[in-house]
Amino acid sequence: MSKTKQKNFKAPKGMRDILPEEQIYWEKFLKVAQRLAEDYGWQKIETPILEDVELFIRGTGQTTDIVTKQMYMLKTSGGTRLALRPEQTPGVMRAYLENGMNNLPHPVKLYYFGPMFRHEQPQAGRYRQLYQFGTETIGESAAVLDAQVIQFCFHLFRSLGLKKINTHINSMGCPQCRPAYRRALVDYFRRQKNKLCPDCQKRLKENPFRLLDCKEEKCQPVKTQAPAMLDYLCEQCHRHFKEVLELLDELEIPYFLNSALVRGLDYYTKTVFEFFLEEETQGARMALGGGGRYDNLMKELGGKPTPAVGMALGVDRIVAAMKKEGVKVSPIYNPKIFLVQLGDMGKRKSLKLFEMLHQAGIVTAESFSRDSIKTQLKIADRLGVKYSLILGQQEALDNTIIIRDMQSGVQETVPQEKIIDQIKKRLIKK
Ligand code: HAM
Repeated sequence: MSKTKQKNFKAPKGMRDILPEEQIYWEKFLKVAQRLAEDYGWQKIETPILEDVELFIRGTGQTTDIVTKQMYMLKTSGGTRLALRPEQTPGVMRAYLENGMNNLPHPVKLYYFGPMFRHEQPQAGRYRQLYQFGTETIGESAAVLDAQVIQFCFHLFRSLGLKKINTHINSMGCPQCRPAYRRALVDYFRRQKNKLCPDCQKRLKENPFRLLDCKEEKCQPVKTQAPAMLDYLCEQCHRHFKEVLELLDELEIPYFLNSALVRGLDYYTKTVFEFFLEEETQGARMALGGGGRYDNLMKELGGKPTPAVGMALGVDRIVAAMKKEGVKVSPIYNPKIFLVQLGDMGKRKSLKLFEMLHQAGIVTAESFSRDSIKTQLKIADRLGVKYSLILGQQEALDNTIIIRDMQSGVQETVPQEKIIDQIKKRLIKK
């Protein structure tokens, strides 16, 4: 006997099991989201969970926290450097290029769902394996497509029964107008350097936009007076943004203009947006999703200049919000009848009968490992089925079966070949 102490294995830090009782919420989210996305014209794509590290360095951005601090990386035995995707936008762009989707009619509209991996400090609503549902609309620069992505999210939240969500929106400008804004921002913050937290003093050099996003108390008064991107937009970006806002007004989608909304990824141009829960979670605003336009990413990844706009929703957080709001979900497993079996013959025949009922579209519960009729009927009662079918030794020999009305206790014996018809008729009548 080995003397080594038994290890109690646990899921890795920041990762978790999603158990059956929570799956009903995930199922509901996915059903509603996929249906709606397809109705809006997005088509499903799956891309690998592992991608070339370089794709994220070039795509998501070399100075972003996601790439510099949070990426899980590995080297294969052949020496290839891969990363567990921290987000899916660069992967979808790579798939577009690799599969010649530039030859398809545009815009190319794709959606996805799956796990992402970010090595962050876990806290409420923040996981290291997180799930996103996202859409990307590729190949057009029209403002109406930016508005459509926001409309979709708004529509989806409403369909899920989530009402207390705020939409924040801003424009990040473009390579023509952003440098002047960046200079103004650096000038402003440099003058107030002593009033900034150490992290922001560092950000000032690397990514001054991220200062606007700082949550430190110390930086708040400085931030509120900072110059706003909207005052620096070039004519084209200004027109584009105005059009997006007018479309949202037309759709009666309320929004907050938030000049501090900069997002944590490098690729954005023009519109950026984020959805926050109205109520704070442990003193902080919880983002349920976000996105924006990224007209230069495709070129960055080696393709032709191709404008695009998209978003990703944090499904872990949406599911938590659904539970908190008491959103109604129907059970995935909803049997209408229960199959009771007694004796060897009954048991043997009941497996076949279970399959027949299933093929006829009648969801049937069972407890094949139990022998006592009393126990089986108790389980049937607990499940709330309307009828139980009882197949005992005698019925197996006679090719009959007993139908028991669970409410009245009335029983009727019918030939086995008529059981599907009989059950269907009764279920319709009820
Ligand atoms: P993101 O803002 O990094 O955007 O992530 C989108 C959403 O994923 C967040 O708003 C949040 O709900 C959820 N999320 C992010 N990190 C975590 C975490 N550690 N734990 C739980 N949930 C999390 C993107 O990923 C972009 N790819 C969106 C996009 C698509 N932009 C254009 N196209």
